[in-house]
Amino acid sequence: MTLKLQPLNKTYNLSNYQEVVDNFSWQDVEKQFSWFNSGKVNMAHECIDRHVIDGYGDKIALHYLHDEEEVQLTFTQVKEKTDHLATVLRKSGVQKGDIVFIFLPKNPDCYIAMIAAVKIGAVAGPLFEAFMEEAIKDRINDCDGKYLITDRELVKRVPKEQLPTLEKIFVTSEQEHCIDGEISLNELLRNTVCEDNITEWLSLEDPLNIHYTSGSTGKPKGIIHAHRAMIQQYQTGKWVLDIQEDDIYWCTAHPGWVTGTVYAIFAPWLNRATIVLNGGRFDADTWYSTIEKAGVTVWYSAPTAFRMLKAEGDEILQQHDLSSLRHILSVGEPLNPEVIRWGIEKLGQRIHDTWWMTETGAQLIVNLPSEVIKPGSMGRAFPGIEIAILDDEGNRQPYGEIGHLSIKAPWPAIMKEVWKNKEKFDSYFQFGDWYLSGDLAYQDEEGYVFFQGRSDDMINSSGERIGPFEVESKLLEHEAVAEAGVIGKPDALRGEIVKAFIVLKKGFVNSPSLIEDIRKFVRYKLAAHAAPREIEVLEELPKTKISGKLLRRELKVLEQQRLLLNSK
Ligand code: WT7
Repeated sequence: MTLKLQPLNKTYNLSNYQEVVDNFSWQDVEKQFSWFNSGKVNMAHECIDRHVIDGYGDKIALHYLHDEEEVQLTFTQVKEKTDHLATVLRKSGVQKGDIVFIFLPKNPDCYIAMIAAVKIGAVAGPLFEAFMEEAIKDRINDCDGKYLITDRELVKRVPKEQLPTLEKIFVTSEQEHCIDGEISLNELLRNTVCEDNITEWLSLEDPLNIHYTSGSTGKPKGIIHAHRAMIQQYQTGKWVLDIQEDDIYWCTAHPGWVTGTVYAIFAPWLNRATIVLNGGRFDADTWYSTIEKAGVTVWYSAPTAFRMLKAEGDEILQQHDLSSLRHILSVGEPLNPEVIRWGIEKLGQRIHDTWWMTETGAQLIVNLPSEVIKPGSMGRAFPGIEIAILDDEGNRQPYGEIGHLSIKAPWPAIMKEVWKNKEKFDSYFQFGDWYLSGDLAYQDEEGYVFFQGRSDDMINSSGERIGPFEVESKLLEHEAVAEAGVIGKPDALRGEIVKAFIVLKKGFVNSPSLIEDIRKFVRYKLAAHAAPREIEVLEELPKTKISGKLLRRELKVLEQQRLLLNSK
């Protein structure tokens, strides 16, 4: 029998799931937006400006903490800053529909740039801060990007000469620190008078943001979302994050990952929350201090982070007062029951798993604070969402049988398109209007969904999605590598780690220093999170007999068999 964790007896924005499911309509949600009456659509307006108009201008919108530095901005201040940057971007030639790439660390400039770009109807393209030149090049070149906002440090990783369409690089520093035609944003802001009414009014179908994401084949694909996504992002923020007026909300993701855009910026601000933003890398002491100093009440993070905190032990935990926390959520990778137990024992809280994907634009399967949690399950379908487990022919599977986790399209936040790749977009829809997630799962009789793995070779390490092809391509550029096959190897801390199998070119001899050199090559050219943690040299790689196509599956089986042997 599955263990059941009962909800606390508290007041939540949604108090009874079944009742809401039976009466739900997305049209009702639309009434919450100012455009419902005005007809004027813009995500940035609903996130920030409307709260100022509604009289909440003095409420703290953003609380930034990094080392000793702390910055607090009210909704009025965020409005002014985003209006000003929006004016600068507009005067610099950015037009409605243009993509503005944003390559910044987690800091207020990054959030302001996201909202400012959206305000003038541009498409925000956040890039993960660990990206190196190859990852940046692939993304900007794929969609002929013209504009980039970055800072003095990260600009060093931008391979300008390999970005032929890039017209303007805005750097958040002074002119004297700008080189090779980079444009100083500080200077532009000083010399530009902020315009009133800078907001571009749009339609719900207009593009909002682009996130590049990996699958098992080819280079990353650009997933475009539309402003209509706000309908679902608002409602999931209300019911799943359960944001209430006094909440202090912290989502730990960087905007380069879709969670860091949708649930660190849009969903909480649509719900008028005070957002906490932490700079720097993961560090248990800093993270606990962030909760304590900012008084975080609602916290959204990922299983690997929870596992890392758990591994740091009790002593560090006990040095902090975490009693402000009232609601904790998780996303991105399977949440082990063991971590849920840790949450209950050490934080006194249930951890609520949620499931969605870059392509889905918002949460689809959720554990609500008012409902029973079955540890090991990602939860149930959000109201208004229909899910099914399909077999290989597209037939519904009975309860308990594993199959393809599929969602009935459309829903408000579903991607608008895959950038210039209709074939890829269509590949998600092999069975009529069922969106195929690529995940394998089963469902129990009460509708709870249990994740079982991927049906393709996509790697999920620490909740970060990594395409094996991108890593293999980079490995092959190293002078010693003749062939490469990359898989996710099961790992107790990170869920999976990136493992590469390679065949060396003639004349190269396997040695620890060569392996380290190859690892670093990927780390510093592509991205730190995608660099293989393990590299193993083989004589040959498994391939199909007829076409000679790499069989990653066999590499994976090999690795799983070894793990089994080791655990015996
Ligand atoms: C893939 C999507 C947008 C959320 C962050 C990741 C895996 C996501 C869970 C979960 C098990 C999960 C799936 C999915 N995934 N949430 N709760 N339990 N696996 O977005 O980078 O687009 O990755 O992450 O495999 O397909 P993403």
